[in-house]
Amino acid sequence: MQENTLAIIKPDAFRKNHLGAILARYEKEGFRIRAGRIRWLSLREAEGFYKVHRERPFFGSLTQFMASGPVMVLVLHKENAILEHRTLMGSTDPGNADPNTLRKLYGASIEENAVHGSDSPESARFEIPYFFPESEIY
Ligand code: CMP
Repeated sequence: MQENTLAIIKPDAFRKNHLGAILARYEKEGFRIRAGRIRWLSLREAEGFYKVHRERPFFGSLTQFMASGPVMVLVLHKENAILEHRTLMGSTDPGNADPNTLRKLYGASIEENAVHGSDSPESARFEIPYFFPESEIY
């Protein structure tokens, strides 16, 4: 099934200048970039985005990190894009991620893990419109 997924290139990858490498990898792996924007999230926006994790002990640290600098938010399109992007990202903890995955290549820790991706169709349906109106997805 052709589908869209939301990706975020997180503040750590942005700070380390890995934006271009990650975008090139998306293209190489056959994702079409349907929308993209550089944003500096407010703490409130980061909290709203990650609200499913609000009871977790890492919620405060995660949201502060996500609001600590610019990010790039993207809509990626491909056959089975959600699962394909999760595979390309690798495990949440870069230490456990497979070789050549984005988190193994560019992540430093479970928090500074370079990229985010929607984990299900349900989360994509929440996450994509969180950043992009339909009219900005090409
Ligand atoms: P992400 O895919 O953006 O979704 C939720 C994020 O929470 C996850 O990536 C991690 O960066 C972060 N996260 C998950 N588990 C932990 C943890 N135990 N400690 C700190 N951050 C975590």
